[in-house]
This record gives sequence, C-alpha cells and structure tokens, in this order.
Amino acid sequence: MSEVESPPKADTDNGAPEPPVVVVGMGFDGWEGLAPTSCAEVQRADVLMGGPHQLEMVPADVTAERVPWPVPATEALPGLFDRYAGRAVVVLAPGDPMLSGIGTTLTRLLGHERVRVLPGTSAVSLACARLGWSVEDTEVVSLVGRPLELLIPYVQPSRKLLVLGSDDDTPGQVAALLSTRGYGQSLITVLGGLGGPDEEVRSGTAATWAQPASPLVITAVECRADRGTMPLPTTPGLPDGAYESDGHLTRSEVRAICLARLAAVPGQQLWDIGAGSGSIGIEWMRAHKACRAVAVEASEERAERIARNATRLGVPYLRVVRGYAPDVFSRLPKPDAVFIGGGLRTPLLIEACWEALPIGGRLVAAAYYEESEDVLEAWYARVGGDLVRVAVQHAEPAGSDPAWVPVSPVTIWSVNRW
Ligand SMILES: C[S@@+](CC[C@H](N)C(=O)[O-])C[C@H]1O[C@@H](n2cnc3c(N)ncnc32)[C@H](O)[C@@H]1O
Repeated sequence: MSEVESPPKADTDNGAPEPPVVVVGMGFDGWEGLAPTSCAEVQRADVLMGGPHQLEMVPADVTAERVPWPVPATEALPGLFDRYAGRAVVVLAPGDPMLSGIGTTLTRLLGHERVRVLPGTSAVSLACARLGWSVEDTEVVSLVGRPLELLIPYVQPSRKLLVLGSDDDTPGQVAALLSTRGYGQSLITVLGGLGGPDEEVRSGTAATWAQPASPLVITAVECRADRGTMPLPTTPGLPDGAYESDGHLTRSEVRAICLARLAAVPGQQLWDIGAGSGSIGIEWMRAHKACRAVAVEASEERAERIARNATRLGVPYLRVVRGYAPDVFSRLPKPDAVFIGGGLRTPLLIEACWEALPIGGRLVAAAYYEESEDVLEAWYARVGGDLVRVAVQHAEPAGSDPAWVPVSPVTIWSVNRW
C-alpha cells in the first residue's frame, strides 16, 4: 500500500511557524448560518479566498483582501499560498470541505498540520434530513470528475444512494444508467440549493425522468429492480454470463475460491496476470471502491474486451496492460497480491511474481493443464502454501434425476510470501 507523507512544516521568514490555512465551510444560508467560531475566523482573516458565490455572502465590512479561487485550481494551487506567507488566510468552501471538497485537496497538498477545517453542514447531512434517511445507511457516491459507471456496483435492490455530481447532466445520466441496468422503477429525488432560500426538491422514477436540474444538486436514488432483474452482488463469483468472453474465463465457482484466497483489502493493489476476460481483477475491484488492480493480457483483442467488461461492471479504473508477463512487470505498481490465470509455463513467471510481492503478500495461481500443474507442484514443494484440486460438476435436466456433467478440474495454489 502507498503511504502518505506529510510535507515538512513551513516556517515564515522570521522563523515563526506559518499560521494554518483555515478552511471554513459555508452553506447556502450564507453568513447568517455560520457558527460563531467560523465567523470569528473570517473576521480576523488578512486574505479571504473562495468562489464568487461564497465571497459575495461575506458582509462588506469584513476588510480582508478577497482573492477569487483560481480556475482551474490544480495548477495554481501548489504556489498559491506562498504568495500570502505570514498572513492569516481563510478559504471559504461550500458545506463540508472534507466531503469531495477543497479541505481534502489542501490537506493532501500542505499537510494536515497546516490546514484547520471548520466544516459547515454537508450536503449529505442536509439531503438525508430532507429525505428522512439515516446517514449511516446511505451510500455516498461521488461522480465529481469521475466516470458515471462507478455507480454500477452500488445499484442493488433497496439500496439508498446519494450521488454527488459536478454538472446539471448528472440526474439525467443517473436515470438513464438505472433504466438500462434494469432499475427503471427506482425513485429519484433531486435536491438543489439545500439549506438556502431557493431550496428545491424534484422527484420521479428513473424510467420516466425528464426534469431540468441546476448544477449544484445532489441526486438521491432509492434503487428498485424491475421485474426479472438479477442483482449483481459485490461478493466474488458473479455468474459467467455477466462477462463478455471468448471462453477464456475463470468459471464462477473457481473464481470465488481464488478471490477468497486473494483476500481483497481496501487500498491494496492486485496484479491479474493472463487476465483473459478480466474477471479476477474486476471482482477484486468490486469488493471495495479503494481496491486497485492491473490486468496483464498478451492478446490485444482480449485486452480490449477486459476494458469493456470493467466499464460494464462498474470498475472503469481497472488498468489494462497489453503485453507479456513478466516482461511488462517493470511498468506496474507494486502488488499486494498476484493472481496468475495464464502463462504459468512461461519461464521465470512465478519467480518474478514471488519476488515482486512484499512479505505477507498473497500469490494465487490456477492451472488448467498438466504441465502447468507440474509447475505449481514444484513451487508448492519449494515454498509451501496450499494446493487444492477443484472438480465441479454441473447438473443438467434429464428426466426425474439430473445428469451430472463434470467440468475439467482446476488446480489452485495459494501461498503467502515469506
Ligand atoms: C485462462 S485465461 C484467464 C482467464 C481469466 N482469469 C478470466 O477469468 O477472465 C488465460 C489468459 O492468459 C493469457 N496469457 C498467457 N500467457 C501470458 C503471458 N505470459 N502474459 C500475459 N498474458 C498471458 C492468455 O492470452 C489468456 O487470455
């Protein structure tokens, strides 16, 4: 896992520590709605930064220099605060600055010690208050600057979602996605201007949604499956039919076992080597939004298919690397777990995977052919672990008793690096 390092503490020219940048969250109720502590910070500021809407809401008798927030902010940010060194800087942000907001960005950029956040009421809390939803039972999905498909893993019967979007297209896009995924009956409520005088709430179903919305809205969804829609869980072992495939696919039952042994942990990185249709990396990423994976696949056609499957199943950030393992390994981020689903007979492949893993990292490999099984047996003898052979039989209707049709057995080796 990657570690976040705090930048060193900044000092002013006279050696005194730099005052913290104060980030004040402000709602649509503006100055009147601010807590006394937040008001006091704004009143004693030398420099006030913020969007035009936030700056306008501060009374004229606050004498601080007003600096409009740079657009786009990403390039301007690193040097922005150097210009105001030694002065009391307050940044005004909407709602809770730590919810998809500038507070998170500044903390990452300047370090936790240099940023003091005074949150306002978040749009999520306000929306839940209006809807009568408990915050802890509500899933918040941020699509701010992110692909719409990230919503897909959350679309399940009865789930309550609050979708944060960055433009007025978000409610319509969410409605269209729900309809095409078999959730057209879902109830959509769009909440705008929350907490302000122009608050507005519009409701409808996804299938018939055709309402205009302003950019600053939050989209609430109560997911309702249409008749016949099969829910797709985020637990491993999705039905094989969920994937577009040319047959190079680890079957559902075997996939479930392999993923259980890979043990997805939020924030960790998987290498899916010989990724075929991409199922292992995709289900690793569906386990938690912070799970990351890279799929390595030699065939160009399959690499393209993996990307399509990843988008369709809601993990568009799966990284697909077209190339041969282990040649491409130097281009990959360090793994916490490795799955080998193809290429076991490639010389030095397991060696390279083993070496790439940190101590305690997990390696799982599946062999479909005798020669590959020999390779796994040799490694099992060398470093230990767990070697199992899985034989699945499928029932097919045949009169009163089903006919059991065996599928070729698969040998699975799993081991923790020591
Ligand atoms: C059985 S499939 C894997 C199925 C995959 N786990 C899934 O569920 O979709 C094996 C894949 O490994 C790929 N492959 C074989 N040797 C490889 C290598 N050295 N580097 C990258 N890919 C390789 C093949 O092209 C094939 O697509």
